[in-house]
Amino acid sequence: MSELTAGRPVRTFHPRRGRMGNRHADAFAELWPVMGITIEDGDRTPLDLAELFGRDAPTVLEIGFGMGETTAVMAAGDLERNYLGVEVHTPGIANLLALAGARGLTNLRVAHGDAMELVRRLAPGSLDAVHSFFPDPWPKARHHKRRLIQPSHVALLRERLRVGGTLHCATDWADYAHAMAETLDGDAGLVNVYDGFAPRPERRPVTKFEQRGVRDGRQIFDLVYRRH
Ligand SMILES: C[S@@+](CC[C@H](N)C(=O)[O-])C[C@H]1O[C@@H](n2cnc3c(N)ncnc32)[C@H](O)[C@@H]1O
Repeated sequence: MSELTAGRPVRTFHPRRGRMGNRHADAFAELWPVMGITIEDGDRTPLDLAELFGRDAPTVLEIGFGMGETTAVMAAGDLERNYLGVEVHTPGIANLLALAGARGLTNLRVAHGDAMELVRRLAPGSLDAVHSFFPDPWPKARHHKRRLIQPSHVALLRERLRVGGTLHCATDWADYAHAMAETLDGDAGLVNVYDGFAPRPERRPVTKFEQRGVRDGRQIFDLVYRRH
């Protein structure tokens, strides 16, 4: 065990090297032992963020970072805060590690697994912000129960935020945007920072999901709520 991994949670995620390009495979081999964490379903071992990052700093959780373009840019522009990204899609994990390596990021950790399983392991009040950018819209009514932004998840996310911490969601699906607003307005522990939808933050880079939404003529909705 290296100095960097000593005392840190076990990392069991080993994607097959043959499936990755060289850039991803090299980044994975070098950075997964330092930045990676596997989230196993049902594991309730508390995650100590100060231990995970090797420092005590405000932490931003990004749920479903996709290929990690947004995460890497935001983490690079905000070195005072820790960024914890969680994603189930393995090529995205390797891509974010490659972006982190290229930028020399030290304030990033990358979790592979289910976001809500990770969230359950965090201490109440331990997050400065939660980002959920373009979560899967699940447009069919019978699939709405799979959506990330639903009352029980929001209650848990809000509880993990510090008082004054923010939950920022974005979507290009109008129906999901309005459902998000209804759910977030319905959580008594959250208050909308804006009057209605939020302005698009300039610091969020445009990902291919957002580009596709705009190209297909969909409006982009941002929602920013604060825990009070
Ligand atoms: C539509 S993509 C958006 C990706 C990225 N945020 C962007 O804007 O480009 C949604 C992402 O959420 C991830 N995702 C879905 N459910 C998840 C879960 N339970 N835990 C972690 N990630 C999840 C998917 O794998 C996918 O990469």
